[in-house]
Amino acid sequence: MGPEAKRSELIYEGKAKKLYKTDDPNLLVQEFKDDATAFGATKHGIINQKGVINNRISEIVFKLLESKGVATHFVQRLSPREMLIKKVKVIPLEITIRNIVAGGMAKLLGLEEGLILKEPVLEYHYKEDNLHDPMINEYHIKALGLANTADLKVINSVSFQINNILKSFFDRKHLILVDFKLEFGKHKGKILLGDEVSPDTCRLWDKTTKEKLDKDRFRMDLGGVEDAYHEVLRRLEVGN
Ligand code: TMP
Repeated sequence: MGPEAKRSELIYEGKAKKLYKTDDPNLLVQEFKDDATAFGATKHGIINQKGVINNRISEIVFKLLESKGVATHFVQRLSPREMLIKKVKVIPLEITIRNIVAGGMAKLLGLEEGLILKEPVLEYHYKEDNLHDPMINEYHIKALGLANTADLKVINSVSFQINNILKSFFDRKHLILVDFKLEFGKHKGKILLGDEVSPDTCRLWDKTTKEKLDKDRFRMDLGGVEDAYHEVLRRLEVGN
């Protein structure tokens, strides 16, 4: 299916994206919205052009990851706000990788934002909005059947591989990858990276000034939100 792929029925609407069926049962269209939420959707706003920027940034990142052997759900970008993706059975986990302390880890453990971790930290969160995506461990995951041992092994190693790839990629763009969140799903028995990779799902700081260039500008009312997203895309597009 090419860019002429026709989307049909809306099958899911989340906080930042919509999913539509296509005439191929294995493929969906993922549409990126400008809506932004934080703190369990208690804070809501519109970031002008965010959908267009995150679609393009995700395309660049998915293509990079695929080129390094990471299997993703990305097929191709269709339009400014739409990408064609493989349909997956979503594994209801959010995998967070942290290189530097910020956000949830700073709060949970009473740590100073900016502390450089001796090694990356991987966290699992149960993907359930009503519970605000609580942190869980491997025992919860296996006991509840959210993923099996073999799947978790793949998810862990792919997540750290993605961290290595993205840390050096963003570094070349003069950005520090502080932390990020990944979601995985299963397509024809294979685990694929899903969702999006964008300033909504990564913390990115300018390497020199440590200026925040991600959704924390929205979460913390820092201003300049749209400019920050534009700046990340501008840097990523150099050489792409
Ligand atoms: P946290 O510090 O708030 O747990 O966030 C860790 C990373 O995950 C950060 O880069 C932002 C991203 N994230 C999401 O993509 N979705 C979410 O719902 C949350 C809470 C964080």
